[in-house]
Amino acid sequence: MTSSGDRRVRIGVVGSGYWGTKLLATLVNVPGCEVRAVCDLDARALAEAGRIAPEARAYSDYQQMLADGQVEAVLIASPAVTHYPVALRCLMAGLDVMVEKPFALCETDARAMIRTAEERGRVLMVGHTFLHNPAFASLASLVRTRKLGRINLIRTSRTHFGLVRPDVDALWDLAPHDISMASCLAGTQPDRVTATGSCFTESRTLDAAQVTLGYPGGLVVQIFVSWMDPKRRRIVEVYGNLGKATFNDVTPSRKLRLVEFAAQRRWKRNSAGRLPWPVRPALARRLAFPPYRTGTPLEHECAHFLARIQDRRSPSTGAENALSVTRVLEAATRSIETGGQMILLRGGASSDLLTAAGNQAPGQ
Ligand SMILES: NC(=O)c1ccc[n+]([C@@H]2O[C@H](COP(=O)([O-])OP(=O)(O)OC[C@H]3O[C@@H](n4cnc5c(N)ncnc54)[C@H](O)[C@@H]3O)[C@@H](O)[C@H]2O)c1
Repeated sequence: MTSSGDRRVRIGVVGSGYWGTKLLATLVNVPGCEVRAVCDLDARALAEAGRIAPEARAYSDYQQMLADGQVEAVLIASPAVTHYPVALRCLMAGLDVMVEKPFALCETDARAMIRTAEERGRVLMVGHTFLHNPAFASLASLVRTRKLGRINLIRTSRTHFGLVRPDVDALWDLAPHDISMASCLAGTQPDRVTATGSCFTESRTLDAAQVTLGYPGGLVVQIFVSWMDPKRRRIVEVYGNLGKATFNDVTPSRKLRLVEFAAQRRWKRNSAGRLPWPVRPALARRLAFPPYRTGTPLEHECAHFLARIQDRRSPSTGAENALSVTRVLEAATRSIETGGQMILLRGGASSDLLTAAGNQAPGQ
């Protein structure tokens, strides 16, 4: 008998540009995956896709692909502005869907996609690729097992020079990865967001943004993103009272580095009995390079999508993750628009987005 895990899955890819071709090249090697269709408006993109996945049928209109009924699941790697309309139609046509980041451009659209997936019993996943990165998974495990002690601060930096996108700013293009990683490490969602942004060109699009997230319990996360920086950085630094871990995805090996603070046990309280300080500076420390699984993030991500299609369980980067990142991005945009005002986030509907100053609902 064939188990659900052995079932072959007929996949389509919508958008075969820079990222879509990477997804295609990965999917053709994922066991159990049959790439049946590729869709792109651009004939040259389709020709390139044909070289990677020669068995796949080429479409210039994804609605034609849906009408043909040859695929049961789709990965959407077209530009961000198309994510909501394309994903919604695919879900309504009964397909399982993985949408690239940013999942949607507002909370309302995100909720509509999630509701449709729930109503139709479809798998819905977002391309928060870094959560499938083996070195990040190892970092998350260090945090979960309290190897770093109590986490106080996380700092992330994601910079490069170009690609400047026409449909979203640098915040919505780059920060989804950092927000999704931060909340994964925190094990919860932020309850406050403060952000500022910069435009370096005549277009009034944000080229760089700094976002500060506050989490229940006091954890602070500082995120810096820029697509106008000559240096490429992909860094997550996690500071705890027992050590610091750094995940640097730009280095080819030893992407994860751990420094343990050996002097920790020697700390004592001051005369006021409140503020601890080290008896001697925490110079004594151990350096380690924790191991992590092999395989690329995209291989793990695509395999995860396929496994969830087969077993019908919720993806780790599913609706909850997609919605919370969209809400944080929306709050960060509002903070930037109001000159860096703190935006309080509560659970529930978008009307629960409050500014800290007046506790006013947006637009009031
Ligand atoms: N997860 C990641 O780490 C990661 C990395 C890079 C890009 N992305 C995401 O992937 C998406 C695509 O980015 P890219 O860099 O490949 O852009 P791109 O411009 O190189 O490719 C987009 C492709 O989509 C096609 N397209 C546009 N509208 C379409 C439509 N309605 N139907 C079918 N095809 C359509 C374009 O012709 C183009 O070939 C974006 O959402 C981006 O944020 C994710």
